[in-house]
Amino acid sequence: MKQNGQAVDVAIMAAGKGTRMKSRLPKVLHRLAGRALLQHVVDTAAGLNARRVVVITGHGAAEVEAGVVHPGGGLLQFVRQEPQLGTGHAVQQAVPALPDDGIVVVLSGDVPLTEGTTLRALIDACGGDKLALLTIAFDDPTGYGRIVRAANGEVQAIVEHKDASEAQRAIQEIYSGIMAVPARLLKPWLAKLDNKNAQGEYYLTDVVKFAVAQGVPVVAHKIADALQVAGINSPVQLAELERAHQQRVARTLMEQGVRLADPARFDVRGELLCGQDVEIDINCIFAGQVELGEGVRIGAHCTISNARIGAGAVIHPYTHIEGGFAEKDRVEVGVGALVGPYARLRPGAKLGDEVHIGNFVEIKAATLAKGAKANHLAYIGDSKVGERVNYGAGSITANYDGANKHTTVIEADVHIGSNCVLIAPVTIGAGGTVGGGSTITKDTPPGALTVARAKQVSLSNWKRPEKKK
Ligand code: UD1
Ligand code: CA
Repeated sequence: MKQNGQAVDVAIMAAGKGTRMKSRLPKVLHRLAGRALLQHVVDTAAGLNARRVVVITGHGAAEVEAGVVHPGGGLLQFVRQEPQLGTGHAVQQAVPALPDDGIVVVLSGDVPLTEGTTLRALIDACGGDKLALLTIAFDDPTGYGRIVRAANGEVQAIVEHKDASEAQRAIQEIYSGIMAVPARLLKPWLAKLDNKNAQGEYYLTDVVKFAVAQGVPVVAHKIADALQVAGINSPVQLAELERAHQQRVARTLMEQGVRLADPARFDVRGELLCGQDVEIDINCIFAGQVELGEGVRIGAHCTISNARIGAGAVIHPYTHIEGGFAEKDRVEVGVGALVGPYARLRPGAKLGDEVHIGNFVEIKAATLAKGAKANHLAYIGDSKVGERVNYGAGSITANYDGANKHTTVIEADVHIGSNCVLIAPVTIGAGGTVGGGSTITKDTPPGALTVARAKQVSLSNWKRPEKKK
């Protein structure tokens, strides 16, 4: 993104310790809506088409650096801040990575929900020659830096809570921790920072007084949406922000017509796209990319990741759909299919239209053509199953010989009885029937009944052993 021909470079502060998380995991790697806090911020930065995204790391630096990626496959730059001497000191470390001709947007790795449109408005407010601060008014501004304005309303300074007078503490407008400023102005200001304050830190917020002294306009872009500037310091705050975010996602979906049994018991950890008249019962979790076609119904307590569910399909309660991100691993459920309760669809399960998958059936890397049914207690893996196949209870494909996986082919209209073992590689010919209890090791001809089990015998003169006296 460019503003008056100026590129945008983003600096994300993520070196702080996060003591109040009381966790071994660095704070910015804790997850909100399924993504690391810092990943949210990186994704937002990338969404601005930032020329550079520079992440300032310190505590747990190696882990943090390994824990985030540029969403577009672009380059993330990391600079280290050791020791951590304050937010001004943090941004000083990024100076060599920030070209002089850009607008620098400063973000925090622990503030995950700032929207791109808000940052674009902030960059517009900066305009390439001003210092723009993202601000908000809080009923309880305790702990935040206060926006101190002159009588004419112009911003004069940010005063940190610990350094503020009683009168300044009464100010409700606070600095969010986010600013946009031309690099050519920022760099000399950073060089002038000192740590003569209540916390003995180099405050980034002191750049405001340098701007004022130099006659550079300071503009506050004030927003009203507290979620966008909410920072995470503790597990309580993390859970509260998670719920607030989920409620917002739920509301947006309901406004599109999706019927949620209870928006308070609904979680999206990725992207959920819904057609018309979708109904979702309580306690469902959607992860990765999930698409629900028109009229799909999802029962209670389902977890669904990376899946495409066709129109009119019904997913009964307690079903686990565990698709992978790659196209071949994505789970597909055809139009009008019935799945569950208690079914498990693993990566690469591709169900055609009107397929029925019942309780305690597991499908992995297998294609089931239209109308195929496996209604109870079964495993189908690495298989191609034809149209209208009926697959009996307790039957499994034995696809793994301990070293390699082999394919099972079950052609159209086959009936597999109960408790069969199909040892791959094997093909069951079209229209054939496999008798219950069979262990099939060789291909079977089409149309035939194949039985592979010990013959039943009855011994009429047999005597049950008796207990010795
Ligand atoms: C900062 C602002 C304050 C603002 C508040 C909003 C300063 C001096 N104050 O205060 O005006 O109201 O954010 O939340 O900037 N970090 C580093 N290295 C450091 C110190 C901090 O990377 O040496 C990172 C932290 O990991 C965090 C961010 O900078 O992501 C903000 O640091 P934090 O200590 O939370 O700043 P506050 O004191 O809350
Ligand atoms: Ca903070």
